This record gives sequence, structure tokens and C-alpha cells, in this order.
Amino acid sequence: MKKLLCIAVAAGIGLSAHAFADRLQTELIKPIEPAVITDPEKVELGKKLWFEPRLSMSGFISCNSCHNLSTGGSDNLPTSIGHNWAEGPINSPTVLNSSLNVAQFWDGRAANLQEQAGGPIANPLEMASSHVLAVDVINSIPQYREEFAKVYGTSEVTIENITDAIAVFEETLVTPNSRFDLWLKGDDDAITEQELAGYNTFKSIGCVACHNGPNAGGTSFQRMGVVEPYQTTNPAEGRVAVTGKDADRFNFKVPTLRNVELTYPYFHDGAYWKLEDAVDVMARLQLGRELNEEEIDNVVAFLKTLTGEQPEITLPILPPSTNDTPRPQPFGAN
Ligand code: HEC
Ligand code: HEC
Repeated sequence: MKKLLCIAVAAGIGLSAHAFADRLQTELIKPIEPAVITDPEKVELGKKLWFEPRLSMSGFISCNSCHNLSTGGSDNLPTSIGHNWAEGPINSPTVLNSSLNVAQFWDGRAANLQEQAGGPIANPLEMASSHVLAVDVINSIPQYREEFAKVYGTSEVTIENITDAIAVFEETLVTPNSRFDLWLKGDDDAITEQELAGYNTFKSIGCVACHNGPNAGGTSFQRMGVVEPYQTTNPAEGRVAVTGKDADRFNFKVPTLRNVELTYPYFHDGAYWKLEDAVDVMARLQLGRELNEEEIDNVVAFLKTLTGEQPEITLPILPPSTNDTPRPQPFGAN
């Protein structure tokens, strides 16, 4: 009660110094902080591996193929294209700010980024390699062995070190200083009245109950279709695949809304291309609310203030293969 009164007073008499201290404490969405890089050589190695197509069977697909850092860390496809043009089962989430999520994947089956990174390399529908083959490829390249020796103290390349370096690189992929964050930090002029109105709707109708924390999401698993079921032909069942509990059927990790204007199409099946439609679906299915056009436009305007500074990436130059490097198999059976 007392806290509420304080906010009301601060807002009422326009004490902006108090108001911004309050925003950081009272708002449920928190700012994204810039990455703190403690081991630049490891980050650099991880970046190479991120862009390394030889981690795939075809020699053509890298992490960046489906999480393109030129397009918000996603592929802007309903579901991804994998080895042999395989149709992926689910929409590719952005990797931007993914280190801030409670767990990785829509169903949270990987606890952290390192555990996650092992998945796609050996997934037959994605990079279709194996951990043994990926390690053989990297081990066959002397420049990589040298870099691993510098960073890990051993020139023996292991899958653990490969995925560790990728994870450490991914931790740098954060997007601070969005206009919304500047507002959170006290700059009243950072967002427009319309955007603020949208944020107020977002809070008052309850979107923020699920989309909160620095990522405006990524803090919990929630049912898709709380009030009304979600219609989809996508067979994914969400969190139940991990816990085996019926109560978790159709629960998905709440996706981040950071940079959401860049990461269309939306939802785990990638069925909606327009942010307006995604907001409308959320309001109806999660909250039982019918928003009018103006309210939807305002919420969309607010969501676009969550676009932050994109990581500036200098494309790494990868060391060449040697005579001993296993050759890529771009076509034919896996
Ligand atoms: C063929 C496309 C494809 C490739 C290649 C790929 N990914 Fe993904 N990635 C996906 C899809 C699809 C998902 C979601 C899968 C799921 O949730 O079941 C995903 C999920 C993720 C996530 C989880 C994000 C979150 O918020 O849950 C991270 C992190 C990630 N990938 C990193 C990587 C890394 C690192 C590589 C390279 C080693 C990689 N990906 C290669 C398609 C791809
Ligand atoms: C009960 C929790 C909950 C509430 C309330 C909620 N959401 Fe969501 N939101 C989710 C979940 C879970 C997903 C992922 C669903 C899926 O893909 O199957 C999601 C997905 C989204 C997406 C798509 C993001 C993407 O990258 O695919 C947007 C946009 C979104 N929500 C906005 C909103 C807005 C705006 C509101 C309020 C009108 C809202 N949400 C209310 C849980 C919630």
C-alpha cells in the first residue's frame, strides 16, 4: 500500500528524479545491460564457431543460418530449413538476449546455452553432423587447435570446449539501450505518448504478468491458450515433452518481446506475420480481452520501443581446411 502511494505521489507531482528511480524498481520489465566481456579471445573463438559451416554435415549450415545476426538473431521463416532442405518442426527463436532466459528452447529442455549448443550440431533436421565428426573437423585445422590451446590450455579440441566458446559468444549478443530502457532509466522523452499508452495497456490488462524481467519474457513457462485454445496444425506440445506432466501440455517458454519487431513470424508455429495479429491473439487467448484497433496499435507501438542496439559483428575469417579435414557432404543421405 505504502509503495503504491509513493508512486502515485511521485507521478502526480512530476518528480522525475524520483520517478525514474521508481521505474527501475517498480516496473516489471527491467533494462538490458551491456555485455561485460572478460575473455575476449574466447568470445572471438566462439564467434568463429558460430559462423562455422563446417560444424554441419553439408559444410553449408552454421548457427547463423537460422539465427541470422543481420535479422534480429532469427531466420524470419515460420519454421527453419535444415540439412537437405529439411522442414524444421518449430519456429527458430532469436538468440539475442537468450542468455537471460530461464532455460533454452520453447520447451526449456536445455538448462543453459552450452547445453543448448550441442543440440543443433547433431540434430539430423538441422546441421546433421555428429559431435565426433564436428570435433574431427575442428581438430584437423591447426589454427583452431592453436586458438583452443590459448583459450583452454589444451590443443585437444572437445565438444565441451566448442559449445562453451559458442555459449560465451552468445552471452555477448545482448541489445541494450532500447528506447524503452532509456525511459526506464529516467528519460521521459525516450518514448512517445502513444507508446506509453500502449505500455499502460500492456500492464493494465495483464500482458506483463507473463512478459516480464529484462527480456519481457523468458522467465516462465505458460500455457498457450489460457482462456481459449490456440488453433494450430503444429504438433509441438511444449513443456510436457520435458516433464511428462499432463499439466504442462501446451505450456511454452514465454518468448522474449525484445526486438520483437525484427523476429516475425510469431508463435512457436510461426503462423502470424503481423505484430498486430499476434497482439490480438494474445489478448483474446491469454486474457479473454477484445482490444480495439487503437489499443492494438498502441501496444504494437510500445513493443517496437523494445528494439535495442544490435550487436555489431565483424565477420570472422575462418581458417582453411587441410588435407586431413573430413569433406563436407552437401547432398545425398545423412
Ligand atoms: C536449421 C536451423 C538451426 C540451426 C542451424 C541452429 N538452430 Fe538454434 N534453434 C533452431 C530452432 C528451430 C530452435 C527452437 C527449437 C526448439 O525450441 O525446440 C532453436 C533454438 C535455439 C536456441 C534457444 C533460444 C531460446 O530462447 O530458447 C539457441 C540459444 C540456439 N538455437 C542457438 C543455436 C546455436 C549455438 C547453433 C549452432 C551450433 C544453432 N542454434 C543452430 C534452429 C536452428
Ligand atoms: C499467460 C501468459 C501470457 C500472457 C498473459 C500474455 N502472453 Fe504473450 N506469450 C505467452 C506465451 C506462452 C507465448 C508463446 C506462445 C506460443 O508460441 O505458442 C507468447 C507469445 C507472444 C508473442 C509472440 C512472440 C514471438 O516471438 O513469437 C507476442 C508478440 C506476445 N506474446 C505479446 C503479448 C501481449 C501483447 C500480451 C497482452 C495482450 C500477452 N502477450 C499476454 C504468454 C503470455
